Amino acid sequence: MRRQKTVLVTGATGTVGRQVVSRLEHSGVQVRAMSRDPDPLGTTAIRGDLTDPESVRAAVSGVDAVFLLWPFATAEKLPPVLDAIAGHARRVVYLSSAAVRAGERHAEQLIEQSGLEWTFLRPHAFSANTFAWADQIRSGGVVRGPYPAAATAPIDEHDIAAVASSALTSEGHTGAAYLLTGPHLLTQEQQAHIIGDAIGRPVRWIDTPIRDARRDMLALGWPAAVVHDILRAQADLVTTPGPVTDAVREVTGAPARTFRQWAEANADRFRDTARLSST
Ligand SMILES: NC(=O)c1ccc[n+]([C@@H]2O[C@H](COP(=O)([O-])OP(=O)(O)OC[C@H]3O[C@@H](n4cnc5c(N)ncnc54)[C@H](OP(=O)(O)O)[C@@H]3O)[C@@H](O)[C@H]2O)c1
Repeated sequence: MRRQKTVLVTGATGTVGRQVVSRLEHSGVQVRAMSRDPDPLGTTAIRGDLTDPESVRAAVSGVDAVFLLWPFATAEKLPPVLDAIAGHARRVVYLSSAAVRAGERHAEQLIEQSGLEWTFLRPHAFSANTFAWADQIRSGGVVRGPYPAAATAPIDEHDIAAVASSALTSEGHTGAAYLLTGPHLLTQEQQAHIIGDAIGRPVRWIDTPIRDARRDMLALGWPAAVVHDILRAQADLVTTPGPVTDAVREVTGAPARTFRQWAEANADRFRDTARLSST
């Protein structure tokens, strides 16, 4: 009898990892959901910290494939983690990004040299990034920010997870780097309006000076280099909108979900529940 596949999912409490866990479990795969704090995750959970290769070595023992997130700016500390993975698993699916920044490309190169079968997922902007607007939408029905005309084709985390799940459990993905997007180009302002449609209350974009956005992001403690990169990327997306690919359909056989579907599924996170209960 063939042994059931076991997959270690790192970042299992995150936007994408949570969906990878749920998708794999539904298809009967044994999952180890890794977290630094696995207690709330239940029986499939395993403790592990990507900054502690020994903890990864323990988590990966007996595993066939790994969904790997590397949520750090540089890949300097990745080699011992890859050694730990390659000591047990055969395959790794790495969540990179469409931007393939220096740290991400370095991580990809290390993975290419690891001897593991690899697949890279390079998603463009996540639909879930718009949760950053939720407080403003709930309290005032507005989104304040620069670059309302910056356009991307936002991708639903379920679609990234669907591609990850195929690459982790089926053949034909080794050596592939998938550029993943949603199906339609939408400006930031259009995304805000679609969220308004989903919650049944108009959402207005208020264009603000770039220096205010910079100040707000720095006040959140974000490194200056990251803030600079984000603002520059948004400026670029006004003149050169993000790509639109059909990779989700090509890999999974199902079309990528629209931003409208995502907004409807997540409408409660944008609704002012206090206002609803008083009306
Ligand atoms: N947002 C976008 O538009 C976008 C686009 C392309 C690519 N990406 C990439 O997507 C990745 C983020 O994915 P996500 O949004 O699904 O994650 P997320 O929601 O930001 O959650 C972060 C995850 O990383 C885990 N984590 C953080 N530090 C860790 C550590 N030291 N050891 C082990 N796990 C650690 C956390 O697990 P615990 O706290 O439970 O340990 C958590 O599950 C990043 O690498 C980013 O570059 C994002």
